[in-house]
Amino acid sequence: MRQGVVTRLFHLSTEAVRRRHTTKPVRKSSPQILNALLSPLPPAMTALLIPQTLFPLPFFPHPRNPSARSRTGPRRKPLTLTGSKEVERGVEFETGDSFFRRESAVGRDLGVLAAALHRMSLGRGLRVLDAMCGCGIRSLRYLSQAGAAFVWANDAFEGYRGLILSNLSGEARVSPEGDRRWVVTHLVANKVLAECYLQRDFFDLVDIDSFGSDSSFMSLAIAAVKIGGLLYITSTDGYSSGGHRPYHSLASYGAYVRPMPSSNEIGLRMLIGGAYREAVALGFHLSPLFSYYSYHGPVFRVMLQVARGKPHKNSWYSFISYCNRCGNSQTFPWEELGQISCPCRNGGVSSSVVVSGPLWTGPLHDAAYLTEMLKLAREWGWASTKQNDVDLEKLLNQMIDESDPQLPPGYIKLDEIARRAKINSPPISTLISTLEKEGFVACRSHIAPNAVKTNCPMAACIHIARELGHVR
Ligand SMILES: C[S@@+](CC[C@H](N)C(=O)[O-])C[C@H]1O[C@@H](n2cnc3c(N)ncnc32)[C@H](O)[C@@H]1O
Ligand SMILES: [Zn+2]
Repeated sequence: MRQGVVTRLFHLSTEAVRRRHTTKPVRKSSPQILNALLSPLPPAMTALLIPQTLFPLPFFPHPRNPSARSRTGPRRKPLTLTGSKEVERGVEFETGDSFFRRESAVGRDLGVLAAALHRMSLGRGLRVLDAMCGCGIRSLRYLSQAGAAFVWANDAFEGYRGLILSNLSGEARVSPEGDRRWVVTHLVANKVLAECYLQRDFFDLVDIDSFGSDSSFMSLAIAAVKIGGLLYITSTDGYSSGGHRPYHSLASYGAYVRPMPSSNEIGLRMLIGGAYREAVALGFHLSPLFSYYSYHGPVFRVMLQVARGKPHKNSWYSFISYCNRCGNSQTFPWEELGQISCPCRNGGVSSSVVVSGPLWTGPLHDAAYLTEMLKLAREWGWASTKQNDVDLEKLLNQMIDESDPQLPPGYIKLDEIARRAKINSPPISTLISTLEKEGFVACRSHIAPNAVKTNCPMAACIHIARELGHVR
C-alpha cells in the first residue's frame, strides 16, 4: 500500500500534539480551540492534526485548505447558505450550494438501516467514516437515526465547513461520558483512509459517496474497515456500465464491460467485482448485503461486508455473456474462457456473443440482512412510505426476491421477449407465475420495472410467452 505523505505524520504521538498546541500562543478563539483539542480524538485524526504545516486544524475556519488544491478536491467559491432547507425522514438540514441529490434519499435510508442493524449486532458504539459527506446529511442521519457513537464527516471542499457544522450542530459534539461524537475535516478521502489504516483506527462503516467511476480509494477504504464491518461504495458511471467505455471500466474496476440489455445490473456487478478483487489482494473477502440501482444519475450503490481470509471459491467472480442473435445470457467460469459460445450457434465461435467480465456473478443481496432491514423499516414507520416515488417496503421485498442464489445475473425485459416472440407483452405478473409453475425461479427486478429475473433461458421464455397467447 502506498503511504506517501501520511507516513511523515505517523511517528508523532497524541501527547506530542497536546504539548505542541498547549505551548503555542493561542489565537483569539482559544476557548473553542482548547475545547476541541482536549476532547479525545480518534487516533487517525490526531495524527492528521499533528503537522500544522501540512493540514489545517479541523475545528475552526482556515483561509485555505491545501488539500482542496488537489486534482480530486474540488475548489469552489466559499459557501453562502442559501436557505435551501430540506427534510429527510424527519431530519432537517440545509444543502447550501453543496452537491446534494434529493433522489439519493433512498440510498441514504438503506445505509442508515444497515448501519443501525450493524450497531445492534456489535453491542457497542458504532463508528462511521463519511469520507465524501457533501452537506453532511449522511453523517447527521448516521448519528441521529442509526445511533452511531462517532461519525467522522469529511469533504475535500473546505467551503462546506460552515454548512456541515451547522447541520451537525443539533447533535451533541461530546457524549455524556466525554467522548467525541463527531468531527469535520476537509481532506482528500485517501488521506483520511490511509491515516485510519496506518493508525489502526478502523471503522465499522465507511461510506464513500463518490462521483463517476473513481475507484482510486478502493483498497484504502477496504483497509480502513474493521473486520466484519461495512463498506458502502458508489459508482455513477452509466457509460461504463452500458459497455460504452470498456477500457475505462477495465481501468476502474478491472472489468471489460460490453453493451448488454441488463446493463444497469451489470453496473452493480462491475462495482462489486472491482471491490472484491481489491479485497482479495489484501487478504480479505467481501460479500454484498445489498445492491441498489437508481436511475437518477444513474447511481449504483453497494453495501459490502468485509471478512478476513480468502474466499473459498471464486465462482462468483467470473464472466457473463449475451447473444445478440437469440437473446440468451450465460455465466462462464474462468476455466471455460476458451469455450464461450451460444447454443444457437451449436458451440461455434460467433460475433453475436459479447462477453463482460470479470465481475461479480453471485447474488446481489443477502436476503437475511434485507429481511432485518425491512423489519426495522416497518418499526420506524419507513416501510410503505415513499421517498421520491420509491416505496421502501416494495423495494426491499423486490430485493429479497432477487437474492435467490438460483437466479443467474441479469434480467430479461418483457419487450425483448415480445419482440422475439412476435407477440404483445404478457402482463409481468402472469409471466412470473407461469414461469414459477413451470419450475423456474422468477421475480421482478428492482432495476427494471418491466423485466423478469429468472433462471429460465430466453428460448423457453419466448415459448412460454407464446403459450400465454398474447398474439399480436
Ligand atoms: C456525491 S457528493 C456527496 C453527497 C453527500 N454524500 C450526500 O449524500 O448528499 C460527493 C462529495 O465528495 C466531495 N469530494 C470529491 N472528491 C473528493 C475527495 N477526493 N475526497 C473527499 N471529498 C471529495 C465533493 O466535494 C462532494 O461534496
Ligand atoms: Zn445465441
